[in-house]
Amino acid sequence: MLRAIEPRTLEALRGIVGPSGWVRGAEDAAPYLRDFRGLYRGASPLVLLPAMVEEVARILAICHQERIGVVPQGGNTGYCGAATPDESGQQIVLAMRRMHRVREVDAADLTMIVEAGCTLAEAQAAALASDRLFPLSLGSEGSAQIGGNLSTNAGGTAVLRYGMMRDLTLGLEVVLADGRVLSALRKLRKDNTGYDLKSLFIGAEGTLGVITAAALKLFPRPRDPATALVGVETPAAALELLQRLRNAFGEEISSFELMPRRAVELTVRHVEGVADPLGEPAPWFVLVEIGAAGEGANAASRLVDALAAASAPAGPVTGALLASSAAQAAAFWKLRESVPEAQRRQGASLKHDLSVPVSEVPRLIELGSALIERLAPEGETIAYGHVGDGNLHFNASLRSGADPAAFLARQESLQTAMFDLVGRLGGSFSAEHGIGRLKVGELERRTDPVELDLMRAVKAAFDPHGIMNPGKVLR
Ligand code: MLT
Ligand code: ZN
Repeated sequence: MLRAIEPRTLEALRGIVGPSGWVRGAEDAAPYLRDFRGLYRGASPLVLLPAMVEEVARILAICHQERIGVVPQGGNTGYCGAATPDESGQQIVLAMRRMHRVREVDAADLTMIVEAGCTLAEAQAAALASDRLFPLSLGSEGSAQIGGNLSTNAGGTAVLRYGMMRDLTLGLEVVLADGRVLSALRKLRKDNTGYDLKSLFIGAEGTLGVITAAALKLFPRPRDPATALVGVETPAAALELLQRLRNAFGEEISSFELMPRRAVELTVRHVEGVADPLGEPAPWFVLVEIGAAGEGANAASRLVDALAAASAPAGPVTGALLASSAAQAAAFWKLRESVPEAQRRQGASLKHDLSVPVSEVPRLIELGSALIERLAPEGETIAYGHVGDGNLHFNASLRSGADPAAFLARQESLQTAMFDLVGRLGGSFSAEHGIGRLKVGELERRTDPVELDLMRAVKAAFDPHGIMNPGKVLR
């Protein structure tokens, strides 16, 4: 049972981090108490900003002893409310941004060790400074932090080639709920010594401990990336293109992102500096990136050849534009990465982060769009994303002029139908955004009881007093 926080305990916690290690004043604390999507507004008597693993350890030892809830927070860009304290005012926030050192980059071993509060963009830049690639890539990489990327097992736009955050992690340093430090910053590619504990903390959304640092995998930097925006008639045609490109490029395809024409139109309308470079009336667009690492890989001309061979009438491509410069490639990426922002500006939206086996994507789009038409007619389907991974952000955006209250009232019935649909297609109701607070009930309802039992047993073993991010992932 968690307890109310006593003033002397707050005093002791402030004493651990010193005068610059906590946030003063309601106004400065406010950004730590609400989530990025504005779904939750929490309360907390103390936002701590620890600077060292020893401080985190001493904080958790006290919280464990006093039964105080702790909410770890990174860049606070998550979609499911995992980093926001509840409304009780009895949970402290542990914001990790002051622990942002890159402890080591080893270009020969292809590893780096970074602290949890390092932003993803800082980690990428540190790798690049040693002519190496840290490949995780997300729209929010300028603010999202490595600790949050680990805690949510972040995905993004390069999963097709490099995998998710779990696949990119070799070792972790974690402060356990009772304040002990798990020092497992191993940099090994092969290590079969018992249970893989680090994997449990990755994707645990701060419910098992506080990740303070990670040993991450690096890759050779692609010398010669090629980026193209491609028009296709249907999602099935997009998958046919993916197959053709796989035959031509194998593992060199790093991104394969799908956008409906509607998403491109919304983005061009709402986001400054975005244009539709194809200018052709394709119903669907694919953003392809080939990242060949070897010298003389010549990805651009090989991609031009592959797209020409895949062009209509014999193939699935109706039009294509190869980026002729890094700036143009960045413009293509801006178009893709601005879709969520364009949806925000369009008004209310109902979001679903779904995955299915890749071959089921066309059926998911067909049946999911029909559900939106039937169950939320004030909205229109904006289904886009990481089609090469079978992961779509299957959203509905409020139609211009439609009633937002009527639309938002559809949320529950639409979500239930969408999640039932992915269940039937063998998919997941949360592909890359996690559970947080938002989907706790769905996890309970939709997870095999044996799996849930094991999750609860893990939680009880790692956090016997239930102080770590209470109410998130599991109730
Ligand atoms: C994306 O891929 O754009 C994000 O994961 C989804 C979103 O921000 O809606
Ligand atoms: Zn995404």
